[in-house]
Amino acid sequence: MTSSWTPDELDHAGPEHLDPEFVAGFDRKQGFPDPTPEIDALRAHGVGEDATVVDLGAGTGRFALAAAGVFARVVAVDVSAAMIRAIGERAAAEGVTGLETVRGGFLSYEHTGPPADAVHCRHALHQLPDFWKTLALRRIAAVLRPGGVLRLTDLIYDFQPDEAEGIFAAWLAGASTDPARGYTADDYAEHIRTEHSTYRWLLEPMLTASGFEIVETTFRGRLYGAYTCVRR
Ligand SMILES: C[S@@+](CC[C@H](N)C(=O)[O-])C[C@H]1O[C@@H](n2cnc3c(N)ncnc32)[C@H](O)[C@@H]1O
Repeated sequence: MTSSWTPDELDHAGPEHLDPEFVAGFDRKQGFPDPTPEIDALRAHGVGEDATVVDLGAGTGRFALAAAGVFARVVAVDVSAAMIRAIGERAAAEGVTGLETVRGGFLSYEHTGPPADAVHCRHALHQLPDFWKTLALRRIAAVLRPGGVLRLTDLIYDFQPDEAEGIFAAWLAGASTDPARGYTADDYAEHIRTEHSTYRWLLEPMLTASGFEIVETTFRGRLYGAYTCVRR
């Protein structure tokens, strides 16, 4: 997508994600999330070992590196050069071969080869404002074959506007006090102020309008949502 009104995705990427020092400590900060449930969710919805899987907003590659040992073709896509470099370094250190890395964004990634069987996207889509999120979802649908699976997890607001104050207060109260080992109240406040988490009741119609059927949804704490969707 390139036109005079297309944003530079780096402006929305979160400056910390472009900073090699932050990237070096990113997995520890986010508590080394286990990619196994994500891989299991794809398998449970028919994504087999011969599948092509694209991980959009791949970060340091925790999902993509694990997925590379399970699925035939895995492409890790991220707009941040520092993140892409980190994936390459980890792949080399761990002896992971065959993982493809592409520096690109939701609005700029050009898929090559046969359509993907699955797209994985964790904690990244909220970087885009809603108008752009819908175009990103449309582009994800175009990457997938009909019947392909989108596994989307993100910070998604599962409440009504007048509940926001109470829910955010509880969220911030339960935050980490160590910025190296978790997200602090300041981090959460910055997320609310500057990033683009969407209400659940807006995101779901966006998914439908973008060509997806939602087949499974789980929420944690009315803030973290996980969707498995099938491309119609
Ligand atoms: C919070 S991190 C999550 C990384 C990874 N998915 C994970 O769960 O560990 C968000 C990632 O999205 C990437 N990102 C931000 N905007 C993007 C865009 N427009 N297109 C692709 N990736 C983007 C950032 O560079 C960063 O690596």
